[in-house]
Amino acid sequence: MTDFFAPCPRGLETVLFNDLVEMGGQNVRATEGGVHFSGDWALCYRVNLENRVASRVLWRVKEGWYRTEQDIYKAVFDLQWQRWFNVTHTIRVNTTAIRCALKSLEFITLLVKDAVCDRFRAHCDERPSVDTLTPDVRIHVFLEDEKLMLYLDTSGDPLFKRGVRQNTNIAPIRENLAAGILRLSGWTPGTPLLDPMCGSGTFLIEAVQMSLNIQPGIARSFAFEKLLNFDKPVWQAMKQAAIAAQVPPKPLEIYGSDMYGDAMKTAWRNLSDAGLSDCVELNQANILEISAPAEHGIMVANLPYGERMGELDELAELYPKLGDTLKRKFGGWTAYLFTADKAILKLMRLSPSKRTPLFNGAIECRLLEYKIVSGSNRPAK
Ligand SMILES: C[S@@+](CC[C@H](N)C(=O)[O-])C[C@H]1O[C@@H](n2cnc3c(N)ncnc32)[C@H](O)[C@@H]1O
Repeated sequence: MTDFFAPCPRGLETVLFNDLVEMGGQNVRATEGGVHFSGDWALCYRVNLENRVASRVLWRVKEGWYRTEQDIYKAVFDLQWQRWFNVTHTIRVNTTAIRCALKSLEFITLLVKDAVCDRFRAHCDERPSVDTLTPDVRIHVFLEDEKLMLYLDTSGDPLFKRGVRQNTNIAPIRENLAAGILRLSGWTPGTPLLDPMCGSGTFLIEAVQMSLNIQPGIARSFAFEKLLNFDKPVWQAMKQAAIAAQVPPKPLEIYGSDMYGDAMKTAWRNLSDAGLSDCVELNQANILEISAPAEHGIMVANLPYGERMGELDELAELYPKLGDTLKRKFGGWTAYLFTADKAILKLMRLSPSKRTPLFNGAIECRLLEYKIVSGSNRPAK
């Protein structure tokens, strides 16, 4: 049994906790910003391949205590790194800390890198090189009070990089946050879904992949493939089974629109590059002028926050009209609006039935739920 930690956007820990329990994780324990779990390596591969919410899967190689920099150096040097990866692999060290009394985290990063290199030198007279941009192996140091945790990253690029959405517009949402919002909305494949501010199409692509059983990691590689304990036959069988379980692309009740042509082009290109453009209906339209594409369904939107010139003034005008549009045209629908803008609560003139705090990186946002009853300014009970 191996110990892992999967970080995720803050606010999605419960979703990830439930996923890991369902996937057969042991000792599953949520903490702020992620979930600890234990399991075998096949589970680690599966979480990397299938989970839509985690940002990474980290393998915990050491848990201990420290007081001084020297304690950290010794803890790192004492580990047999050469058993986990080759000296020819490039490395990068990342340090994060909460309530750490040591002066410089940059110094800890250098110290840990030195300790790993010294361990290799002691073993084979050679040391791995550092590559901060595209390292083969990422080592994460986490210090909390006087507790030290060392992790080897099994993901490599963060998991929100699906290897699908290559073209982005301004202010795209991260894929794992978009997937988490879809999960919090309770949307399941088969229910009509509309993103009326679709930008580069992140919600649409996540929803199409979920509908067609396309695993989020199927088009990319992972750092665990470079570790010396990599079990290639297990991984290849898992990937082949995932490919065999995919449903061929077909038209789905998934709808996207955006006011701007450049956004629509980006969304179309992303869907089309992934071979999924026939699955979604795309239209260029102002959110105030669209009609519900089905009698009931789920609307998700990542509201603009003034990223285009002059948009802030327009937004102050947009929100009250948006409340009206929802009431007039979307009775029977539930809308989930994701925003960091607190002004919306007053301006919409529609009371949310739920507000869920969610973080977009360091920015505190809200996912506002509106259950729309035609002509009403109150959410349905
Ligand atoms: C924060 S971005 C959405 C990003 C998108 N979720 C993605 O991942 O790329 C907000 C989008 O709202 C669009 N937008 C702004 N005002 C609009 C309006 N009145 N009607 C429709 N779309 C609008 C912008 O063009 C932008 O693409």
